[in-house]
Amino acid sequence: MKVDVLLGLQWGDEGKGKIVDVLTPKYDIITRFQGGPNAGHTLEFNKIKHVLHTIPSGIFRDDKLNVIGNGVVIDPVIFKKEIEGIKAIGIDLSKNLFISKKAHLILPSHRILDAASEAAKGKSKIGSTLKGIGPTYMDKTGRNGLRVGDILTNFDEKYKALVEKHGEMLDKYFSFEYDLSEYEAEWFEGIKLLQEFQLIDSEQFLNDSLKNGKSILAEGAQGTLLDIDFGSYPFVTSSNTVCAGACTGLGIAPNKIGEVIGIFKAYCTRVGMGPFPTELFDEVGTELRVKGNEFGSTTGRERRCGWLDMVSLKYSIMINGVTQLTMMKSDVLDDFDTIKICTGYKLDGKEIDYVPYEMTADIKPVYTEFKGWKTDMTSMSNENEFPEAFKAYVDFIEKATGIAITVVSVGPNRSQTIERK
Ligand code: GDP
Ligand code: IMO
Ligand code: MG
Repeated sequence: MKVDVLLGLQWGDEGKGKIVDVLTPKYDIITRFQGGPNAGHTLEFNKIKHVLHTIPSGIFRDDKLNVIGNGVVIDPVIFKKEIEGIKAIGIDLSKNLFISKKAHLILPSHRILDAASEAAKGKSKIGSTLKGIGPTYMDKTGRNGLRVGDILTNFDEKYKALVEKHGEMLDKYFSFEYDLSEYEAEWFEGIKLLQEFQLIDSEQFLNDSLKNGKSILAEGAQGTLLDIDFGSYPFVTSSNTVCAGACTGLGIAPNKIGEVIGIFKAYCTRVGMGPFPTELFDEVGTELRVKGNEFGSTTGRERRCGWLDMVSLKYSIMINGVTQLTMMKSDVLDDFDTIKICTGYKLDGKEIDYVPYEMTADIKPVYTEFKGWKTDMTSMSNENEFPEAFKAYVDFIEKATGIAITVVSVGPNRSQTIERK
């Protein structure tokens, strides 16, 4: 068996959580491979709306195993809150949630370092979710990090040594007021809870599962344009959000990857700082934000909105080896008279059709216009119901990318999902 990977092709919040939940019945195991509680994945079904941060979005389906892979970073405080929130809906996770011993821990002092670093950057800040992601991955690659498996051994000593080091860094490089004590107490409560879960060698478990005929879906967090190598650096997150990240974040060999499902919104959003060529600052941008309810699932921040960017979409498809596309939030465009897709960038007087080294603010989008379909699509359940103008929009994207759009989403609910033949 192979591992199918589902990942975002834009700047995150494409609707990954919803689609992973929809696809879960087809798989035995759902697993997260990178990122941490900077992610906010929203699921809606049976009048329940739930946002997940660290836990894979397969958790609400019976009899499925969910694995937090080695590439993920975990904040025990947020993890505990998530577990309690899911328990409150009557779901017991002790048997179907496994956690990699090699996943790294976000310490309270990582969060402080994140906040201090952002404050020191001033106007050039990243717009981080301030969950401690950057400093935790820095300690991972700097070979200083604490891993989940460490909580089974002489943990206190290792914890104290790392916090001391962080204290020295904060004193030396940042003038930043902080108090760890309150968060630290909650953090150790979270560590206790983590100890109750099955902490495993997940690379072994996942490869054995494949050998035994189990099917696996890997759930990306963030999006390709936030990837540490291929995103709009430095305005990115600190992990590899692309398909290759599923290999390193799970211990799966490249030849074990099956379908790569690339997911994108019918328009585009971004939260945080950094370039965004198709961003709209006018009433159209506001309309997209209001109709699409574009407010961050993790931080509540307003998401910046704009038209679909075909140049960066094609780039993301290339980097990930996408084999099928899923288009989300088509319904948000239901009322527009005219809809635009950016099909080229104008930079230094020349038109280009690729993502340049730096996605600077100087890029001017070149648009192709489409007639709006002016039809409420939210209760449609079959592609035969699609209005002609919508079909033309889908057709254009498929031709431009060379990849089939196999799923169209027309609302936030599980049921508002249309498979195409
Ligand atoms: P993720 O981080 O990729 O999982 O996406 P988020 O959950 O952060 O953001 C996607 C938002 O859009 C959530 O509020 C979803 O409930 C909502 N959503 C998902 N699909 C659709 C859709 O097809 N139409 C509409 N209107 N909302 C959707
Ligand atoms: P999901 O999985 C959208 C953005 C932040 C910031 C940058 C760095 O829900 O799609 P970080 O906290 O990682 O240091 O922030 O990345 N960002 C996201 N934007 N969706 C996310 O996750 C994001 N996770 C991080 O806004 O610009
Ligand atoms: Mg999100």
